[in-house]
Amino acid sequence: MKVAVIGTGYVGLTTAVALALSDHLVVGIDLNEEKIEALHQGKTPIYEPGLDEALIHVQSKKMITFTTDFDKAVQASEIIFICVGTPSDIEGKADLGQLYQVIRQLRRALQENKTRRVIVVKSTVPPGTCDQVAKQLADMSHLTVASNPEFLREGKALLDSMSPSRIVLGTESEEAFTRLVELYEKIPAIRLKTTPIQAELIKYASNAFLSMRISFMNELARLCDKIGADITAVAVGMGLDSRIGPEFLQAGLGYGGSCFPKDTLALLAVARENNQPMDILYQVTQVNETQPLWFLHKIEQQLNGCKDKTIAILGLAFKPETDDIREAPSIKIIQQLLDRGAKVKAYDTIAMTNMKVIFSEDQITYESDAYEAVKQADALILCTEWDEFKQLDFERVYRYMKNPLVCDGRNALPRERLHAIGFKYLAIGLTS
Ligand code: UDX
Repeated sequence: MKVAVIGTGYVGLTTAVALALSDHLVVGIDLNEEKIEALHQGKTPIYEPGLDEALIHVQSKKMITFTTDFDKAVQASEIIFICVGTPSDIEGKADLGQLYQVIRQLRRALQENKTRRVIVVKSTVPPGTCDQVAKQLADMSHLTVASNPEFLREGKALLDSMSPSRIVLGTESEEAFTRLVELYEKIPAIRLKTTPIQAELIKYASNAFLSMRISFMNELARLCDKIGADITAVAVGMGLDSRIGPEFLQAGLGYGGSCFPKDTLALLAVARENNQPMDILYQVTQVNETQPLWFLHKIEQQLNGCKDKTIAILGLAFKPETDDIREAPSIKIIQQLLDRGAKVKAYDTIAMTNMKVIFSEDQITYESDAYEAVKQADALILCTEWDEFKQLDFERVYRYMKNPLVCDGRNALPRERLHAIGFKYLAIGLTS
């Protein structure tokens, strides 16, 4: 099938490559000429394992092209995916400006040409948005609007797109459903046919629910700290209940990234607008907001204050296997440390370039590796559980640090080894 994908960010680019790998002829559209030029040369603007190689593969088979020529690309396509950003506005609501701009462009580009097409909204949008879009395009009966939310995880984006947990197809149109089932023929997953509003809510609710599990565990971790229990052992015991399951029970510095923080706020905004409070979800966001500060408070107590202390931060990305620092807990930790007069030395496997936009090299020192970061440090704080940090030569780290205090914000480091070497070890919901 001929497919256009509007927006070549995480979701758009991965969707485009996954559909090209499924033998569809795909054109990726973006306003950003530099990005399109780089994509022509097989360079993805994001760090995503396997994506570069897959892109080069589908390019060599001529299954994918990229363009800034919106009209030409959509006119040549049967299925048009909208994958533009829906960032939070100042009230936490999803800002649909880019989406509605695309709808206006589609209206202009497809006015004359009456070929039947399906417009698929993949961007995460508040429930009811697709119905609104369909109303706006109601006079163009050759266009059908469907919701097909994306559930991919950063770092595993291609894998999740090629082998998703489910394909949710929100449409009342049998024709659109049949065409989308045909489109996804080569991708093995349960297809769930539902209404657009339900499809949109499934996306928000899934992210909100996973966020809730994390905040629940983080709150429980605070209690574990007080009563002398180990949150990791409690999580194992809980996860063995098949009704609960083991995933998303890791206490830490809280969730970050481009989805959970934004989507929980957007769902709360929908609740507010409908005068239907979601108290649990509100508390989920509050626990997440305060989790890095709660940990920092523990660290401060150990150090007798942070003023003039040298703190090594290992890990800046919001999670491993990505260079994405959006809403990363490391940002809150570093900001608080600077506010308290500490000196920060930071290192991340791949996210330092992105972090330099937030904290300049005048504010914090970016080091060439973890060992440089810990030299003369009064404390080491692990913010992202990259494998390289779990495998450090901790004897060497011990020799380099001024004060052997390891603060494990992800409960990921080898606790017993660290104790044996002589470190003081602080973690989340673990009494050391
Ligand atoms: C998430 C959803 O998983 C995905 O389905 C959705 O489409 C987009 O949002 P992503 O943001 O890539 O994906 O990251 P994910 O792996 O879900 O982790 C989100 C955050 O939660 C990270 O900051 C991670 O460190 C944190 N997390 C995750 C925990 O703190 N504890 C856990 O047990 C799991």
